[in-house]
Amino acid sequence: MNDKQRVALHAANLIEDGMVVGLGTGSTANYFIDELASRHADGLTITTVASSIVSANRAQQMGLTVIAMEQLSNIDVYVDGADEVSPNMALLKGRGSDLVREKLLANASDQFLVLIDSSKCVDRIGQNFPIPIEVAPFSWKMVLHSVVDMGGKGALRPNGDGLAVTSHGSLVLDMAFDAALTSQQLNEQLNAVPGIVEHGIFEQLATAILIGENDQVTILKTG
Ligand code: 5RP
Repeated sequence: MNDKQRVALHAANLIEDGMVVGLGTGSTANYFIDELASRHADGLTITTVASSIVSANRAQQMGLTVIAMEQLSNIDVYVDGADEVSPNMALLKGRGSDLVREKLLANASDQFLVLIDSSKCVDRIGQNFPIPIEVAPFSWKMVLHSVVDMGGKGALRPNGDGLAVTSHGSLVLDMAFDAALTSQQLNEQLNAVPGIVEHGIFEQLATAILIGENDQVTILKTG
């Protein structure tokens, strides 16, 4: 069992009967879906809501009940991976293409459990990856101009010979910023730019980070 599988198993064992569970997207979230489905097969009663079509398909194939986000105003727990986690539990997400649903579920959950291996722990958000910024296609040049004014450097995310397109039909700018800008500052500044649909900084949303390292699971919590 690798570290991602180990944290996924640990998180699945935290889920209780009757919960509405949000399913993230990515390899770690996939391990969680598999472990949750296994508990469901053993009698755990749960309802799930997915952050992407890929996760919804996987969950349904494994026998889980998946309901539409439109039917929910809040959920008990959301479980997802991350690309980076800082010491104050800010996250960078969005190497996939479902940022909008991911942040909605993170915000609507009583508990947001983030599953990572120790390679995702960083000193600052943006250390290893650029910040993904989803933009409405017609707004990308104006958003790029605003974000360059903030000190950002980057371009539209490519995909093969074309451009990456999210499940909402947005384009993605991958932008690097000066190390002096904190995730709080970046979050506030990006939230204020018109034309940005969503961005990959998840500030003060995680309630616990489950870190897998050397066959152990360490849990970081808020407060
Ligand atoms: C997708 C995400 C993923 O959670 C993140 O990319 C981590 O992926 P993985 O679990 O495959 O390492 O944010 O948008």
